[in-house]
Amino acid sequence: MDADLGEYRHFMLKEIYEQPAAIQNTLSGRVDLENVRDCISGNPQKLAQVFDEIKEVQIIACGTSFHSGLTAKYWIESLTDLPCQVEVASEYRYRRQPKRDGVLVVTISQSGETADTLAALEKVKSESYLATLTICNVPESSLTRESDFALMTVAGPEIGVASTKAFTTQLVALQLLTIALMQRDSANAEKATVMLNNLKRLPALIEQSLQKDASIKAMSEAFIDKHHSLFLGRGELYPIAMEGALKLKEISYIHAEAYPAGELKHGPLALVDADMPIVAVAPNTRLLEKLKSNLEEVRSRGGVLYLFADENADIAEQENIHIIRVPEMPESLVPIVYTIPLQLLSYHVAVFKGTDVDKPRNLAKSVTVE
Ligand code: G6P
Repeated sequence: MDADLGEYRHFMLKEIYEQPAAIQNTLSGRVDLENVRDCISGNPQKLAQVFDEIKEVQIIACGTSFHSGLTAKYWIESLTDLPCQVEVASEYRYRRQPKRDGVLVVTISQSGETADTLAALEKVKSESYLATLTICNVPESSLTRESDFALMTVAGPEIGVASTKAFTTQLVALQLLTIALMQRDSANAEKATVMLNNLKRLPALIEQSLQKDASIKAMSEAFIDKHHSLFLGRGELYPIAMEGALKLKEISYIHAEAYPAGELKHGPLALVDADMPIVAVAPNTRLLEKLKSNLEEVRSRGGVLYLFADENADIAEQENIHIIRVPEMPESLVPIVYTIPLQLLSYHVAVFKGTDVDKPRNLAKSVTVE
């Protein structure tokens, strides 16, 4: 056994369990800042100017990092006055974009070496933009060097090809960025303070969600002989469902597709049968009632549901509805905490299937060629 694995069977599991510490390290010294933008490194005068002149955010990333960017779009657009666009780097780099003023370009990358993300950044630099900022886990990486500003995640080295702690620390960094952008308007001060205080609770909430490991492992057995699965979420939980589906396909080789639950009736309902497990992230948010009626559409057609729901949610376990209860928490933390049970689900399915969890076939940790 690799000495670095300690008590764990795989790096992926070790990294899942490292998340409370990785998140604590990413928050450390930042949540108590009066002006959260001070956690961004780069020229402070230029940063102040960028925060005055910004009109729009453009996020560019690949893979799991793209999913953290999609989640941030929900935060930025609901909590600030700034529009936010998100695009995969391999598309952005080859596409003409209309000229826009005041665009802060944010790249997100665990490695800081992904070829498409770097190429997209190079393209941005040949066009008009306000500034470039990277959210990255490797301080000496190419992206960090090539960007005007950096907001580092402090996840520590990630070995497992399927990204786990890099993703949740990216979400933390993106929430800090959102709060920094909110603080441009003094009317947001109180809300920003509440969100910062909520973030302090995050490591403990992640610890609690890790305690569901045994019941998630038991749930995962139902997936072993399946070939297809559907992941559902609504609002900012839709990108989390996308990330859950990506994890499952990466390491268990089960086809997994994510859908915003309101879109079910426009296609995927035709696929529903007892052979396609349907995973849904169902926290107590403003969209829960909508999601519940979407889930009923599935159940009444013979679908088998695997739900991650708030322990106080009014959803009962019954035939074809299996539920893992997650503690109640502030809405701003929900996408981050609900990621954990989805990671554990994929991990256990892959272990049951006997795949190479840390090095899934055909995939690389860092894609440095196009
Ligand atoms: C590869 C990895 C993924 C990662 C993606 C982007 O596909 O297998 O886990 O999300 O690259 O990598 P980056 O280092 O830019 O976040």
